[in-house]
Amino acid sequence: MANHTITVTVNGLKEYLDVPSSMTLLHMLREKLALTGTKNGCEAGECGACTVLVDGEPVNSCMMLAVEVDGREVTTVEGLAREDQLSALQEAFVAHNAVQCGFCTPGMLISAHALLERNPHPTEDEIREALVGNLCRCTGYVRIVQAVQAAAEEGGAK
Ligand code: FES
Ligand code: FES
Repeated sequence: MANHTITVTVNGLKEYLDVPSSMTLLHMLREKLALTGTKNGCEAGECGACTVLVDGEPVNSCMMLAVEVDGREVTTVEGLAREDQLSALQEAFVAHNAVQCGFCTPGMLISAHALLERNPHPTEDEIREALVGNLCRCTGYVRIVQAVQAAAEEGGAK
């Protein structure tokens, strides 16, 4: 299988990677860069656990090839915190008990982060719509929505 050399900026760091043509962005992040915060749920574009930002837009990384991010910017859940400081959104998830098993949390945080970046004061309906592609089997969504609302009230995603 052919390999390709790509250049991609991940969480602000420029990476030069050799990737097979069939490798997904999800596997590139987890296996080439050890960024295991991005979760592999269904690998079929259904659950949103693998959501990352590509050039600021949320995408299911299981549905994108690594070669497609050549020259682009990727942000994973590891890129939301600043050194040891969680983002306001991450803090709100903790404060509102929006995390149970945590498997959906990275994808939820990425989708919610993208929402607050483009719409700092979303309505509840807008929050629910932004998270429609992220499935949670534990919390029932109420606390997740409350956490996003709290982060918005405190000034946004960061
Ligand atoms: S692992 Fe990508 S959408 Fe489920
Ligand atoms: S916290 Fe367990 S799947 Fe969402």
